[in-house]
Amino acid sequence: MQAFPNTFSSYRLGNLTLKNRIVMAPLTRQSAEDDGTPTDEMTAYYARRARGGVAMIISEGTYEEDALGCIAYLNQPGIANEKHIAGWRRTVDAVHACDVPIILQLMHGGRVSDPRCLFAGEAPVSASDTQSPGWVLYTDSDQEKYDRQVVGHWPKVTFPPARALSREEIFRIADGFAEGAARGMQAGFDGVEIHAANGYLLYQFVDPKQNLRSDEFGGSPENNIRFAKLVCERVREAIGPGKLITLRLSQDGVDDFGGAWPDGVRYAEALGRALADAQVDALHWSSFDWTDNRDPNSADPMPTVLRRASGKPVIVNGGIAEGPHAEQVITSGAGDLCAVGRPLFAHPDWPYIIRAGEPYNWIPFDRKYVIKPPYDYSCGYPLDLKRSVWPADLNLRRRHPEG
Ligand SMILES: Cc1cc2nc3c(=O)[nH]c(=O)nc-3n(C[C@H](O)[C@H](O)[C@H](O)COP(=O)(O)O)c2cc1C
Repeated sequence: MQAFPNTFSSYRLGNLTLKNRIVMAPLTRQSAEDDGTPTDEMTAYYARRARGGVAMIISEGTYEEDALGCIAYLNQPGIANEKHIAGWRRTVDAVHACDVPIILQLMHGGRVSDPRCLFAGEAPVSASDTQSPGWVLYTDSDQEKYDRQVVGHWPKVTFPPARALSREEIFRIADGFAEGAARGMQAGFDGVEIHAANGYLLYQFVDPKQNLRSDEFGGSPENNIRFAKLVCERVREAIGPGKLITLRLSQDGVDDFGGAWPDGVRYAEALGRALADAQVDALHWSSFDWTDNRDPNSADPMPTVLRRASGKPVIVNGGIAEGPHAEQVITSGAGDLCAVGRPLFAHPDWPYIIRAGEPYNWIPFDRKYVIKPPYDYSCGYPLDLKRSVWPADLNLRRRHPEG
């Protein structure tokens, strides 16, 4: 009998027929050229995962224009010009050759854009005049500090104060998303994902702690989600009804790990209701543990709440590392598709492994496998499935900087 029959059943999403319920989550690699052109390394990376059995790929976060502080980090890919289109086209063709659809994640960095990506004297932009608290990159252990030859304090990522966007700029940025989406269609993508999660600009509007506006773009759940909805609307106009649009949401952000919405599940319900008429084919819940709602008054996972309130299909993400996890997402009604990040990062054949009913030896999240200094995601997650097969002295091979 087929292991995990629900996970390996097909699903119709928009105009696409997906062969199973496993979607590759967006994973930033910072391996584009300095000018944002996608590279052959990226093509090989995505094609390898397409061959590994996923039903659909969501690209890493991509900037749609080189304006208004959109670029979030160094070597982030763009879809802002003809060169970017040509670069992405190679990746899209390679993924399509494996009969796997791929959609392009579009994002704006907002107040957590790497200051090195801003023009001289330019302030980052956000919902309101706020400043990101930044974060310390390496918090794991002294061993990690030793391994990385970090002497002194842990590197801290800091950001300058952000300025609130004007109404006109909000509409301008929404058009920027739409123009980027149209260029994405020229590159052959099957659709786009609008990134309103994880601490970036659209999330900064959704998060009531950061959105202090009193116009129609702030002050209530309906107003806080209005910018993301506007972007989806403009994108839909630009790419037409036949292409996929998904909208990614989360409760926490890169500078607010463990963050929670003050009204918890009630806030998610209100967002879901406001999204019922949004121009999206699916919502995508981003987290590190999909069962976790961080609301002491409710046991419902956030994706379950959003799905119920919006009536939209939901892609569920966060800690889905084994077949039973994926199966539970589908059978519990939390979502329709599972987005898998780090396991696919570590092992491109993850769908085949779990389909065979093999146990997957999950390597817990460890920043040292994904981030290297200073603030760079181009490091690889370990390919070995079992810690036990690693050499016992793995962490001791590098010389200590002081001795
Ligand atoms: C190295 C790395 C890069 C990521 N890049 C993105 C990104 O570009 N866009 C995004 O929405 N989420 C990004 N994420 C978040 C993942 O999509 C996902 O939400 C997270 O890894 C939890 O899912 P998992 O438990 O399946 O790994 C990234 C995560 C990691 C570890």
